[in-house]
Amino acid sequence: MTRPEHLDLPPLLGAGGELRLPGSKSISNRVLLLAALAEGVTELHGLLDSDDTRVMLDALRGLGVRVDGAPGVDAGVVRVHGCAGRLPGTRADLFLGNAGTAVRPLTAALALLGGDYLLRGVPRMHERPIGDLVDALRAIGCAIEYRGQPGYPPLHIGRGAPRLDAPLRVRGDVSSQFLTALLLGLPLLGAPGDLEVQVEGTLISRPYVALTLALLQRFGVHVDNHDWQRFVLRAGGRLRSPGRLRVEGDASSASYFLAAGVLGGLHGRGGVLRVHGIDAHSLQGDVEFARVLERLGGRIDWGDGFIDACGMQAGRARLAGGDIDCLAIPDAAMTLAVTALFADAPTRLHGIASWRVKETDRIHAMQTELRRLGARVEAGDDWMRVWPMRDGDWRNASIHTYDDHRIAMCFSLASFGPVDLRIEDPACVGKTFPGYFQAFAGVVRPVPVLAIDGPTASGKGTLAARVGARLGFHVLDSGSLYRATALQALRQGVALDDEPTLVELACALPIRWDDGAVLLDGLDVSAQLRDEAVGNAASAIAPLPRLRNALLGLQRAQRRAPGLVADGRDMGSVVFPDARLKVYLTASPETRAERRHKQLISQGISSNINDVLRDLRARDARDASRSVAAMAAAPDALPLDNAGLDVDATLDRVLQWWRERT
Ligand code: DC
Repeated sequence: MTRPEHLDLPPLLGAGGELRLPGSKSISNRVLLLAALAEGVTELHGLLDSDDTRVMLDALRGLGVRVDGAPGVDAGVVRVHGCAGRLPGTRADLFLGNAGTAVRPLTAALALLGGDYLLRGVPRMHERPIGDLVDALRAIGCAIEYRGQPGYPPLHIGRGAPRLDAPLRVRGDVSSQFLTALLLGLPLLGAPGDLEVQVEGTLISRPYVALTLALLQRFGVHVDNHDWQRFVLRAGGRLRSPGRLRVEGDASSASYFLAAGVLGGLHGRGGVLRVHGIDAHSLQGDVEFARVLERLGGRIDWGDGFIDACGMQAGRARLAGGDIDCLAIPDAAMTLAVTALFADAPTRLHGIASWRVKETDRIHAMQTELRRLGARVEAGDDWMRVWPMRDGDWRNASIHTYDDHRIAMCFSLASFGPVDLRIEDPACVGKTFPGYFQAFAGVVRPVPVLAIDGPTASGKGTLAARVGARLGFHVLDSGSLYRATALQALRQGVALDDEPTLVELACALPIRWDDGAVLLDGLDVSAQLRDEAVGNAASAIAPLPRLRNALLGLQRAQRRAPGLVADGRDMGSVVFPDARLKVYLTASPETRAERRHKQLISQGISSNINDVLRDLRARDARDASRSVAAMAAAPDALPLDNAGLDVDATLDRVLQWWRERT
């Protein structure tokens, strides 16, 4: 299957509903390794089905470990036949993709066991440091060689002679995964005495180490934690299968939904978004993210096996800003960088130095992409400051995702802003959450659009204005954009077939709407836009494909809470294909000609009904036959022939349809 290039996300109005989280990546890969190395068979429930866990499963199978079943199949039950510390495969070439949670612990386990192993990954994996772990293992006599750049994978692991008489030392300030890797591997040594690991530097991401200790405990191995500086594995600790183990939902993945549930309250229409699979007793550190959201003003309710995010706390319109220590929640902190756009004061995230060595340089990437949206951002070695955005600051943006699942997921939250958002390479979420965007779409409510398309003089403009007034929605008269571009072209003497220059005019169109009036450069041009000459020029430029494309962003940018009524020719088919209701308004050419004729007469303009009918037929033919966005009803549009209906009756019919859909 080809990987989609991008995904367009509409602006969002609210969020609500329920969702079951996929299994935790951190737990899944830890327990897979522990189960493989332990004595006995372990039945794992709720294992994550993603790129990173597939990498670990493939590696274990490559090492000769028997694994029955697959995550995501048969209720996700996987049975791992532990090798009791003796891997069947003593030679293997292991491709570990970009999975840090696979490469680090496997390096330690395989180096402590000894053999003939090659560990490699994607190019980015070969840029992610592993020197601190290799140094620690070499210092006790393990045989590891770099096969590329010193300090980075790929690695070759040989057969060393690990000594057990001195404490192991490992740095803890770049990645806590080095310490985790050693702790997971040490029970393999079956040492007769206590084994000690000493941490050099301040240990970061401590909750992940706590998770490692808790899971070791489930496998029968107790490690004493002396103030995060010394860890002591008691003599004779051996890994034994707990029999059956359920993997919690992923707390980092939960962060996007908890944030969505809170941001859904921005427009005063928050529902309850229930996230199943984690709760206050979760082993994962990222559950702390929910407490941070609570401190920032989000309403969070804690349940048994779930957490509810229910909009904002009473009296709060936006989130609070401030200083947030993210040392313990490095992954969920990325979500905070995006929710900070919706705060009432700047937010400073600190303790995020580890972002530099993740799937991509996340400090650089987050800063670049937030700026693309129009945000003000500053960053340093281990911090980032994000200023809140006001409505006018937002820019429609296409977000580059750097093959980093978390960038794709956290930026989906920007669609709570008044913005037309594009996420590039959305499939990169497969690293930890292949179904992310479907799950997201299932719990968010886009700003609703009611599209009214139809031929000239069908009464769409009048109907759109009336519907907009009744629903309290914004109204987009898309024809006014074509007319305004045409007016600019006529004023500046731009030829009506000079597409590149017309595109430039459209991209820089100084248009604003104010209380029903159309302003160009701040001046009311509503009357001029209705001129016959301007209408004809608009009709002449409307078929130009690049011009239509240039006007897309401007049209979509009108989609604002609480909703939009859009009238034109291609509102339902091209501009808002996800519109909640699409009406295709029509009447016979004779009926429309008669209306237009009466309208002209009432305006004191002389008119001949036959000429009007002829012009109207010609316009219909031109609109219907052009190659781009030809005027035609969207397949899911409801046709409405209003020949025998007055405006009120037409309005009632449309409002009735709308109510049926909401
Ligand atoms: O609806 P109107 O008469 O104001 O439209 C002016 C011209 O712009 C008309 O010739 C059709 C074109 N148009 C279009 O092609 N697509 C739209 N969505 C709206 C108008």
